[in-house]
Amino acid sequence: MCEKIHVGIIGLGAYLPDRVLTNKDLEKMVDTTDEWITTRTGIKERRIARADEATSDMATEAAKRALNDAGLKAEAIDLIIVATITPDMLFPATACLVQDKIGARTVPAFDISVACSGFIYGLAIANQFIGSGTYRHALVIAAEKLSAITDWNDRSTCVLFGDGAAAAVLGPVEKGGILSAYLGANGKQGELIKLPAGGSRIPATKKSVDDRLHFIKMNGVELFKHAVKVMAEAALEATRPLGLKAEDISLVIPHQANLRILNAVAKKMGLSKDKIYLNIDKYGNMSAASSAVALVEAVKEGRIKKGDKILLDAFGGGLTWGAIVIEW
Ligand code: UT7
Repeated sequence: MCEKIHVGIIGLGAYLPDRVLTNKDLEKMVDTTDEWITTRTGIKERRIARADEATSDMATEAAKRALNDAGLKAEAIDLIIVATITPDMLFPATACLVQDKIGARTVPAFDISVACSGFIYGLAIANQFIGSGTYRHALVIAAEKLSAITDWNDRSTCVLFGDGAAAAVLGPVEKGGILSAYLGANGKQGELIKLPAGGSRIPATKKSVDDRLHFIKMNGVELFKHAVKVMAEAALEATRPLGLKAEDISLVIPHQANLRILNAVAKKMGLSKDKIYLNIDKYGNMSAASSAVALVEAVKEGRIKKGDKILLDAFGGGLTWGAIVIEW
């Protein structure tokens, strides 16, 4: 019998645009206050990409940094997955653009559109391909330019989002690596957060632009309730098959949508708040890139040590959700 292939993260990299947009800046743009944003969301500032900087540019920079961290050249990559809801264009896939920009071989490259759960879905897919022996090295990139689909006149959403990217190189490791992955979705709740126009249902017209249908529409209150429920459930589903309890997890790297959501999830999981990694104050909600950037920063800050069991946990538009346990 073939030996099980352990699949781990062997390189990480992130890219955040230079421009910082603070809550104070937003006070000048819409009817809001630093106090409201901070107490309701935990966000203090977010990054905004340059006008000439698209998702593939941020993804490429993050990918190069992850390859460098892994000590691998782009030619070593056998699979490229980009998780994004803000692709450069509807097609070709942003992953194909990245493949070209980093100088990878003509390996499979595709995007996945599962919003904030994208990094976890991407890791789970790559895990299958590497774990089965089909491919050796995969690049999973989560990159978003949410500022391009944010309605800067809508105070209920524009204070929440930011831009950024992070990438992971996955490959075989001696032991540990991805121990379990749990994914879920419920299309019935798709109405809660969406970008209505620009697809085949409502193609771009003057009216669709005038009606501001090319921007994110969100029912924040309903999403909040689902987020707490499904993130706690996903955590349980990913840890239970391994016989792990909350206290066996050294750090949770969650999607960063709202500090209050994360405090509620910690409570539901019976975890102390200091076991939940947070960087929402600096970056806001970057959709798929949130948990990916959080992982990169947690490692950089020494919050994750060899042998630690960490949990990545996210939910997002679709609705979708997912959790992954990794032994570092
Ligand atoms: O990434 C996954 C997708 N997104 C999410 O998970 C988001 C989940 N939801 C949330 O994080 C929260 O629901 C929000 C942060 C979006 C909103 O917080 P909330 O505590 O649920 O506020 P609310 O929507 O119930 O609004 C409360 C009040 C309203 O005023 P009235 O009707 O009570 O007078 C809003 O008009 O706050 C008002 N409001 C604001 N006030 C100042 C909404 N946005 C703002 C704002 N500044 N930016």
